[in-house]
Amino acid sequence: MEIAKRILLSEATIQQRVQELGQEISRDYGDTSICLVCILKGGLMFLTDLAKHIVPPVTFDFIGISSYGHATQSSGVVRITKDLEDSIEGKHVLIVEDIIDSGLTLRYLINNLHDRRPASLRICTLLDKRENRKVDIPVDYVGFSVPNEFLVGYGLDYKEYYRNTPFVFVLKPEYYED
Ligand code: IMP
Ligand code: MG
Repeated sequence: MEIAKRILLSEATIQQRVQELGQEISRDYGDTSICLVCILKGGLMFLTDLAKHIVPPVTFDFIGISSYGHATQSSGVVRITKDLEDSIEGKHVLIVEDIIDSGLTLRYLINNLHDRRPASLRICTLLDKRENRKVDIPVDYVGFSVPNEFLVGYGLDYKEYYRNTPFVFVLKPEYYED
């Protein structure tokens, strides 16, 4: 594709791994129903594919959080733009996230959700940029460890674009405006 400098994860690679994660989650939870909490908007593609491979009963809920601004670096200052519809009290919550970078966004979210007294709270992220981590986050399921580059596709955006591609790629430098 012309806008891609490099394709990091092909559609087949992603789908294979997502299936494995679904199987792993199914084994771990057994018959326990899971409340999948998708972090909008980046986690959306991952949620829909992952959920197809989860055997125990699941419900979906969505939370929108946004770091201030559109920069390619996380500011750590986050706010809830759309809250969950239902209470998670007493439920087994699995957060479904696109990518963990500094960890600042997720630390905020974990603290926030903990206060709502779920029975358990685990994290599933498609991508993990571990070398950029600023705060320690207990991640239970990781799709892929990725290098410290700005990635787009399969839910990940640059200025809201490129979320719809079925693969993850690095944009050519001329497509970045800052
Ligand atoms: P963190 O707070 O630094 O962990 O950033 C987490 C959020 O920043 C993710 O949920 C993404 O929305 C966004 N983000 C981090 N790295 C990337 C990237 O490489 N491409 C697109 N978005 C990213
Ligand atoms: Mg995100």
